[in-house]
Amino acid sequence: MIMNERYNPMSLSIKKLLFLIIAALSWSNLIYAKSAATWIHSDADSLLYYEDIMANTDRLEDYEKARSWLNNYYRGIVTNDEAEVPDYELVDPLITADGQIVKDRSAWVSIRRPEIIAMFESYVYGKVPEFTYDIEFQTRSVDPDALGGMATRKQVSILFGEDNPDLSIDLLIYLPNHVRKPVPAIPGLSFYGNHTIHDDEGITISQKWMRPNESIGIRNNRATEATRGVYSERWHVEKLLQRGYGLVTAYAGDIEPDEHNRINESVRSLAYEENEEPASDEWGTIAAWAWGLSRMMDYLETDEDIDHDRIGLIGHSRLGKTALWAGALDERFAIVISNNSGSGGAALSSRRFGETIGVINTSFPHWFCKNYSRYNNKEHMLPFDQHMLLSLIAPRPLYVTSAEEDLWADPRGEFLSAREASPVYELYGLEGLPVTSLPAINHPVMGTIGYHIRDGRHGVTLFDWENYLDFADRFFKD
Ligand code: GCU
Repeated sequence: MIMNERYNPMSLSIKKLLFLIIAALSWSNLIYAKSAATWIHSDADSLLYYEDIMANTDRLEDYEKARSWLNNYYRGIVTNDEAEVPDYELVDPLITADGQIVKDRSAWVSIRRPEIIAMFESYVYGKVPEFTYDIEFQTRSVDPDALGGMATRKQVSILFGEDNPDLSIDLLIYLPNHVRKPVPAIPGLSFYGNHTIHDDEGITISQKWMRPNESIGIRNNRATEATRGVYSERWHVEKLLQRGYGLVTAYAGDIEPDEHNRINESVRSLAYEENEEPASDEWGTIAAWAWGLSRMMDYLETDEDIDHDRIGLIGHSRLGKTALWAGALDERFAIVISNNSGSGGAALSSRRFGETIGVINTSFPHWFCKNYSRYNNKEHMLPFDQHMLLSLIAPRPLYVTSAEEDLWADPRGEFLSAREASPVYELYGLEGLPVTSLPAINHPVMGTIGYHIRDGRHGVTLFDWENYLDFADRFFKD
């Protein structure tokens, strides 16, 4: 007999039973949820809870909620007060992981330097995975009579093969006309494209995605004509040219857009299958930008107008962090200049002054490898600190700059870091930083490590450039 379930008294009571079970379960769940809420009562508990969500969830909404909670929390405990800096002890760059003292260059080069690189790769910037790629340099334009005849302007694109038609690093190069080639050159990335560094109408306006910034004329994430020259006061192109230097720049967003989850539009996509993600110890955006700088160097080594042994890398702020990491890995950069690079750049992390690891990882989760967030709020557990990043530049000249009002970047922490990198320079018989205490405002000091703290805010000024060029002259000119 076929029974209609709806009218089967037995089936009805099963349903009732099921309903009761479900109701009971939901009720106990409510209690559980309530007790979980009570359980998550302290900041320490919430931290664990949200760190876990941010690290593991696939749901964008949950990720954003966790990120924003953590970011508020970490920002809430930021200090700009020296009295609140915790006691900390820096790891000695010259003692190996198994406790041996590094007494000579050969032990530095063969043991300790690689150890330090491996730590920064695994826990901070992430390592570049093995992958192959096509690379091609295409000269788009050359104007031997740019800037009123003062310079030769070249625009060259670095391309990555037919399979990646949207990927290109577009270089803008100015070379001084009044000096004999090959010339020393200073490469550096920009935040909003080549056309922002000078109002020269010959510069192609970038069509790439950009972070929103109405005030400089970025509309719908794209540059407009209004953006031309908006950052010229950060670059001082004419000053560089007069001093006999070439300038080489590209938009950081050509290498990777500066936003979480844009890896598909980045050089990192060259290393992965679609939807494949970098492992926890593999490169973040800063390491991708650094990789791009090395590809720019690959081009520069083919350009006969540029002296390949006199190429000094510069970077400001997030791009200063990038310059340090690129310079640490790629020894073809003969000088490295870090301008206001702050947290994750020149500044010591263990001081916890200004921007901390927790803040940076939750404001810009794409910049570093995922492992870096293990040190959110746990700076005291770091087996290294940023002075060891600076030490990787040795014996090459390094210049670190702070700005007095840029407390977010911890000027004193940047200075101390440069000072604590000095013993590695001394191993080479070189003077690192020539002073042991913070110099007066606007009083540069120059050994093989140079440093100044200037008055004013976060930014790059003419004063900064004049000192960079003076510093470069000491090593690049007879
Ligand atoms: C933010 C960020 C800094 C970074 C700076 C910049 O302030 O917190 O770490 O250096 O942006 O790149 O301008």
